[in-house]
Amino acid sequence: MQTVRVDTGVGGYAIIIGRDIFRLLPEALPVRPRRVLLVSDSNVYPHWGEGLVRALAAAGPDVKPYVVNPGEQSKTLAVAEALYTAALQAGLDRGDLVAALGGGVVGDLAGFVAATYMRGVAFLQAPTTLLAQVDSAVGGKVAVNHPLGKNLIGAFHQPVLVLSDLGALATLPPREYRAGAAEVVKYGAALSEPFLAYLEQNWEGFMAADDTVLAEVVATCCRLKAGIVARDEREAGERALLNFGHTLGHALEAATGYAYYLHGEAVAVGMALATLIAREAGVLPGDEADRLLAVLGRLGLLPPPPGLDSGTVLATLRYDKKRKGGRGVFILPVRAGEARIFDSLEETAARVLAQYLGGRLGKGW
Ligand SMILES: NC(=O)c1ccc[n+]([C@@H]2O[C@H](COP(=O)([O-])OP(=O)(O)OC[C@H]3O[C@@H](n4cnc5c(N)ncnc54)[C@H](O)[C@@H]3O)[C@@H](O)[C@H]2O)c1
Ligand SMILES: [Zn+2]
Repeated sequence: MQTVRVDTGVGGYAIIIGRDIFRLLPEALPVRPRRVLLVSDSNVYPHWGEGLVRALAAAGPDVKPYVVNPGEQSKTLAVAEALYTAALQAGLDRGDLVAALGGGVVGDLAGFVAATYMRGVAFLQAPTTLLAQVDSAVGGKVAVNHPLGKNLIGAFHQPVLVLSDLGALATLPPREYRAGAAEVVKYGAALSEPFLAYLEQNWEGFMAADDTVLAEVVATCCRLKAGIVARDEREAGERALLNFGHTLGHALEAATGYAYYLHGEAVAVGMALATLIAREAGVLPGDEADRLLAVLGRLGLLPPPPGLDSGTVLATLRYDKKRKGGRGVFILPVRAGEARIFDSLEETAARVLAQYLGGRLGKGW
């Protein structure tokens, strides 16, 4: 078991990482709610719901579970409204708690409800995907989607406690696990050479979800993200480094209607393309590029979907850029474990992207 303390100006909270940790709840929970709205989805709740309900109830409160459909389609204001109704009917007031048991979708949705219900109530996160444990449950961003774009309606709302149960990952589909692993590699590749080396040395244990390795991996990612968020709460500078692989990754996801890649799979390709762009632009030495590409290759990079042309992807990129006020930036590695922000390198990017989409990068890139 590992515990990471996150400081947030307003007190801070603990992230507890390990197996069988719901039983720590009565002592670990820093608030004493009388009622809890427990939000989960129908993939997660049958496996892990009862355990969390029991653990919460042992801490005292009445627990009202609310199970949503799995997937991005539940991250809407309409589902949030149904949750407000459930909370009101269960009698939740300002002193009560909203808990999230699930992946990033459930965490973002329940967090948004916690941030807005009666101007904000306490929020507990029990993330059950690797992505949620290393990324979305840390940092305090919560949101729902709008028909015109993802995560456009949101807030910052820190949890009072995060319980990352490594055992819950046992029922996660392997493809989802690998997609989450891409975000893990991102931390090593963009922020920390020692962590990258740890991943290289412990890759098999990581892929086999070995307890010790996984606890170290999740704790390190949480520390790295929490550190950056604390130093850069307004997303002016350093926090952008967390978007390594995301510029092209998002463009690929959007250009394929969010139907071909899982988010992490698109990010893995985006990181590999950023590495090639950096090498071509002369900001990343060849041997460092080889090292990064070898780790990314272990994730198993998805081939391009048939028929996707680079014009469509670049158009998405430009649209994104326009929305953000015209500043096209790329996060590029300058060596293994360190990335920097560069102004748009659109020509190089277009060339590398066309190579990928044309299937000309070959195996092992
Ligand atoms: N708030 C943030 O800072 C932040 C950061 C990154 C991503 N996100 C958001 O996170 C979401 C993606 O999160 P995700 O990848 O966890 O997706 P997800 O919540 O949709 O989970 C992926 C799939 O796995 C299933 N699942 C989850 N845990 C399981 C388990 N233990 N066993 C079996 N099945 C399980 C889910 O039902 C779903 O089908 C996106 O909406 C994204 O916008 C938020
Ligand atoms: Zn991501």
